[in-house]
Amino acid sequence: MADKVFLVIGGGAGIGGHAAARFAGGGYHAVLVRRSDEEGLQRLVGQIEDAGGKASGTLLDAAADGTIEELVERTERDIGPIDTVLYNLGAQIGNRRLADTPHRTFELGWRLGCYGLFRLAHAVTPHMVERGNGTILVTSATAAVRGNSGQHSHAAAMGGRRMLCQTLNAEFAPQGVHVSHIVVDGSVDAPDTLGKLLGDRFEAYKAAKGEDGVIDPAALAETYWHLAHQPRNCWTHELDVRPFTDVPWWNDNPDPQISK
Ligand SMILES: NC(=O)c1ccc[n+]([C@@H]2O[C@H](COP(=O)([O-])OP(=O)(O)OC[C@H]3O[C@@H](n4cnc5c(N)ncnc54)[C@H](OP(=O)(O)O)[C@@H]3O)[C@@H](O)[C@H]2O)c1
Repeated sequence: MADKVFLVIGGGAGIGGHAAARFAGGGYHAVLVRRSDEEGLQRLVGQIEDAGGKASGTLLDAAADGTIEELVERTERDIGPIDTVLYNLGAQIGNRRLADTPHRTFELGWRLGCYGLFRLAHAVTPHMVERGNGTILVTSATAAVRGNSGQHSHAAAMGGRRMLCQTLNAEFAPQGVHVSHIVVDGSVDAPDTLGKLLGDRFEAYKAAKGEDGVIDPAALAETYWHLAHQPRNCWTHELDVRPFTDVPWWNDNPDPQISK
């Protein structure tokens, strides 16, 4: 059995995979979970093992009832105690008018963005509370703090996730469980998500952003490591990150005279 496990739900080649590699490098057994790409999953597991770390992976659809719950119990029983879990599922479907957002799409966004975290919290907090410690990291997005045109499903799901993090904090911080909500307020070099959304345009998009114009998931993984190792007298419950050239979410129309 491992001493401590880092579990990532949504472990693709971007934030999820890099966070898994960072925690495995720090002595955790990393468990990566993604929906569909067995080859991609095993590639990430292999990279961690080649670097001397411990990792394993599994495919599952986190939106389906019962899957997260079974995963948590199986991990605790067969691999080791879940010290840190990263809920890393997005709900981005691109910009769509309300009429082009079917009810099922909205519901799926909510299942991935919000309800899945609720289910995860139900499953993992009893273990963490019993041990008196644990960390739940939640990757989020600009849509958690700002609605925008075409973002009906995404913003509703991510906004709900943010409020859920706050209420989880209120209940579980005094019991030793650190919940941290990370607003990723910029594009990430993530081939399995943004890369697929943009397709052939991904490389040109990154080039147009310029040097350091896109978030490096390895750099973000360092932030996640730090969050999970803060002393409990100094916990961060929310933070936001963006590339140095991006305009923050609260200021999308800056005065060009001042911003230059
Ligand atoms: N990428 C960006 O530019 C960006 C910007 C702002 C915020 N974010 C946030 O970052 C997080 C994602 O990180 P990332 O973009 O770097 O992606 P990533 O970690 O590279 O991959 C996330 C993985 O989640 C998996 N996933 C999706 N639906 C799933 C489901 N139902 N069950 C299990 N796994 C599922 C996908 O697996 P499969 O590939 O196998 O389907 C995907 O590979 C999200 O919370 C998102 O809101 C990303």
